Amino acid sequence: MALRLAAQLVVVIAMVQSTVTERRILLNEEFDSMERWEHVVTSYRMGENQFQYYTRRPENSFFRDGKLFIKPTLTTDRFGENFLHNGKFNLKKEGCNLAVGGGCVLKADHDIANPIQSAALVTKTKFTFTYGTLEVRAKMPRGDWLWPEISLMPANNVYGDWPKSGYIGLVSVRGNDNFTCRGQSMGNDVMESTLEWGLSEDLNHTRSMTWMSKAQGNVSFSSDFRTYRLEWNPDGLHSFVDDQIVGSIQPPEGGFWGLSGFNNTNQNPWANGTIMAPFDQEFFIAINVAVGGELFQDNCDNYPYPKPWNNSSPDTPMSSFWNKKDEWYPTWSQSSADDSALQVDYVRVYAH
Ligand SMILES: *[C@@H]1O[C@H](CO)[C@@H](O)[C@H](O)[C@H]1NC(C)=O
Ligand SMILES: *[C@@H]1O[C@H](CO)[C@@H](O)[C@H](O)[C@H]1NC(C)=O
Ligand SMILES: *[C@@H]1O[C@H](CO)[C@@H](O)[C@H](O)[C@H]1NC(C)=O
Ligand SMILES: *[C@@H]1O[C@H](CO)[C@@H](O)[C@H](O)[C@H]1NC(C)=O
Ligand SMILES: *[C@@H]1O[C@H](CO)[C@@H](O)[C@H](O)[C@H]1NC(C)=O
Ligand SMILES: *[C@@H]1O[C@H](CO)[C@@H](O)[C@H](O)[C@H]1NC(C)=O
Repeated sequence: MALRLAAQLVVVIAMVQSTVTERRILLNEEFDSMERWEHVVTSYRMGENQFQYYTRRPENSFFRDGKLFIKPTLTTDRFGENFLHNGKFNLKKEGCNLAVGGGCVLKADHDIANPIQSAALVTKTKFTFTYGTLEVRAKMPRGDWLWPEISLMPANNVYGDWPKSGYIGLVSVRGNDNFTCRGQSMGNDVMESTLEWGLSEDLNHTRSMTWMSKAQGNVSFSSDFRTYRLEWNPDGLHSFVDDQIVGSIQPPEGGFWGLSGFNNTNQNPWANGTIMAPFDQEFFIAINVAVGGELFQDNCDNYPYPKPWNNSSPDTPMSSFWNKKDEWYPTWSQSSADDSALQVDYVRVYAH
């Protein structure tokens, strides 16, 4: 009996030691240089018709006290009010690298020019990995209509363009203090992790899975630094905030194809992949702060001012948003000028 116990103890110790040594670190980003990051520069508004353009200007992304700050500002601070209505700026002058949807020109058309300036940083050509643990300590921005996002994106689109090659959102939070949809808070006390995959952009052929976690007590994800962790293994994905599980998926035998309920098997783009496909390829890290767009649903309640644009009548959403600047802009700096900044203390990746 004693012998068996001793033997079990040895096994336990051996396991602990092996997990420790197996946590080989692949990336330990403390934000002392830009070496591993590049900016996305574009006015493309992404699938959700967001309101920002992305630039590498130093007011929108900078390092301070060993942290990365991504802070949205007003386009008018740079170009003046008139620009929103009549202006035109060629983003190629500052290294535009996403030309889709006219993304290398910032200008007014039937709507005003993108009224917000922000930043998106990616490790696309500098650091990619497949499987492992991604751990990010960060404080989310506070302010109405802000949408920070820390995610993994496919490096090579092996299975095709979005959504075929998938997307893994580690964390995103709506910066609003008081935003509720059908009685549920969707503001800065709720964080989301999301998986996306599918056959084409058309909504009937995209699939997603969103896990949410609500902050406990009188705090939000915008009031404190939290540790967000994704464990990405050859048999599943698991998301955590401060060691509390947010959500988990271990795909069944048919993989994500089997989960999707698509009917025509000869369309399966992941037929030659593993059970995790499309999440079995190289992914890179992306960190950005978006503003507005369809990330904020209609028919929700925002306090004290309602959402100033409609997704369902998308003619001039940016103009509707800008007209109500006096309502939302003050919410970006209620306790300090950096409220609206996403602050990232570190990003670490451990090998599987
Ligand atoms: C949010 O706004 C509602 C009014 O719409 C108010 O009753 C509620 O107390 C507010 N909640 C917070 C946390 O401020
Ligand atoms: C999506 O499916 C719905 C319901 O089956 C259908 O009414 C709609 O036309 C489909 N949309 C597209 C773009 O195929
Ligand atoms: C919650 O925190 C805010 C900001 O720190 C404070 O103004 C408010 O009084 C607190 N509310 C409660 C119920 O403790
Ligand atoms: C698959 O086929 C079933 C039954 O024919 C149908 O109800 C369902 O809408 C189809 N799904 C898709 C995604 O086409
Ligand atoms: C899977 O591999 C086979 C054999 O190489 C190839 O013919 C087929 O097109 C591949 N399918 C996909 C979806 O890539
Ligand atoms: C959004 O649509 C609703 C219903 O059609 C309308 O009452 C409201 O004024 C619209 N809001 C904006 C900002 O366009």
